[in-house]
Amino acid sequence: MTDNTVKTRWYKDAVIYQIYPRSFCDSNGDGVGDIPGIISKLDYLKDLGVTCVWLSPCYKSPNADNGYDISDYRDIMDEFGTLEDWQRMIDGMHQRGIRLVMDLVVNHTSDEHEWFKQSRSSKDNPYRDYYIWRKGRGKDGKKPPNNWTSRFTGSAWEYDETTGEFYLHLFHKKQPDLNWDNPKVRQEVADICNYWFDKGVDGFRCDVITYISKDQRFPNGKFNPAVCGDEHFVIGPNYHRYIHELNQNSWSRYDTMIVGEAQGITVKNAFDAVDESKEELDCVFTFEHQTQVDSFLTTVPKKFNLVKWKEIFSNWQALPQTCWNSLYIENHDYPRSLPRYGKLEYRKQVAKMLAITINFLRGTPYIYQGQEIGMTNFEDLKPEQYKDVVSIQIYDIAKKFAPLKPIVRWALNKKARDHARAPMQWSAGPNAGFTTGTPWMDVNPNYTEINVEEELADKDSIWYFYQAINHFRHGNEIIGKGSYRCYLPKDKRVWCYERNYNGKRYVVVANYFDKPARFRMPKELAHRSSKVLFHNYEGEIPLADCKLRPYEAVAFEIE
Ligand code: NOJ
Repeated sequence: MTDNTVKTRWYKDAVIYQIYPRSFCDSNGDGVGDIPGIISKLDYLKDLGVTCVWLSPCYKSPNADNGYDISDYRDIMDEFGTLEDWQRMIDGMHQRGIRLVMDLVVNHTSDEHEWFKQSRSSKDNPYRDYYIWRKGRGKDGKKPPNNWTSRFTGSAWEYDETTGEFYLHLFHKKQPDLNWDNPKVRQEVADICNYWFDKGVDGFRCDVITYISKDQRFPNGKFNPAVCGDEHFVIGPNYHRYIHELNQNSWSRYDTMIVGEAQGITVKNAFDAVDESKEELDCVFTFEHQTQVDSFLTTVPKKFNLVKWKEIFSNWQALPQTCWNSLYIENHDYPRSLPRYGKLEYRKQVAKMLAITINFLRGTPYIYQGQEIGMTNFEDLKPEQYKDVVSIQIYDIAKKFAPLKPIVRWALNKKARDHARAPMQWSAGPNAGFTTGTPWMDVNPNYTEINVEEELADKDSIWYFYQAINHFRHGNEIIGKGSYRCYLPKDKRVWCYERNYNGKRYVVVANYFDKPARFRMPKELAHRSSKVLFHNYEGEIPLADCKLRPYEAVAFEIE
């Protein structure tokens, strides 16, 4: 255990790489990525300039939701390896200067966790209150206690024959919600964190952490056919008290980073949630910018609005230094960023444009596996390829209403989480070099062109661009501490912003669209001598009155 006075806030200078272990690298040919596979790629991560890994869940799990349903928090999933493998992995990371942030999934457990098995066995079992049980409504008590819906479709309540009551599950029915109002549950969570910290873990990414406190009166939610009840459990009545308590009982005692997946936290309430003085989370994944294009787990794609996008990032950048930002555009819950923010015919330019505009902001950047080589969605994701429980459940509903089928299929082809979960594309060899066996889900057929080997052979690739930016960021005070100013906030095509630290200034200019965009340098920035730092096109860029090419982006330093 370390003394909390030594907390270094190391994450403010980190570049974090997210590994979705099932799809990263398979070492034993069973078609499923595993920990020895990760170990074999540690040098790859180091070369890329990564200084921290966020590992999606690798604990024991029956995999109803690919590890986000945990049946033993202190052990490793059989398919991924053993605790000894895990120890070798973290040692190997630390030897290379890479930290490890684990996923902490404690809003719910698996229904196969021993606590739940006990809890459901009888009403007077000591574990009964670890979960949320309520009587049903109606004469026979078979109607759910209220109208809340699971984020994965259907009611959030499941009837259990053994005791004739319902339990709450805000996700899949195999993911029962823990009862955080029970102090024993909160102590269990602190103990789990301390167990992993004592093994050397450097932090946690807290899954759906803003859902932990529910209004225990369980009132009906405002009517909404898709997601109902949010107002009664997103940042619920005791959320801040429970997080502060966990911070005191565990997190603050170690030199950590705690990042919360934080639906409901927007720039308006961010200060209360992440300011250092609050002693709660260190930072959050906000959904504000993502929902500009994709709403979490809903199926209707939206049109991208750059003005809104700039406003969201600009507002977050304006928060004090003590409210730290997380900079991400991809993870395992969204389709890939490339088709979302740009046309694929400009794959390289779009990927680099996103890399520039996101990485020159203040905050900790995240790279989701494959983002560094510009991996894309499946062109045509077929129902028989769905592996994600959400895609499967949504399509199952559509199957009952034939006219819905093609629409849902179309929407999932754009939005399914499966796209980002396809195996990592290491080479043009069989199964993209991910496995020698049969991959647990299909490899994207474009692996013959888009793969790590290709990227490493091309000095102008997306991979080298990320590598250069990652190295450029390390220790960079202008990026880490500089002020932020957005120019031309109402411009619908171009994002132009400045970072300034003690008079040293960087300027970023990016055309977010596939058509040329007229750009006139704001007069405050014009006529200064400048040095180009990053640019996603070959050749000169006239940094004055110019036409930016499709997705053209440049970061430069001005004097
Ligand atoms: C958020 C995770 O990122 C997602 O993958 C998971 O399905 C839900 N939380 C439930 O744990």
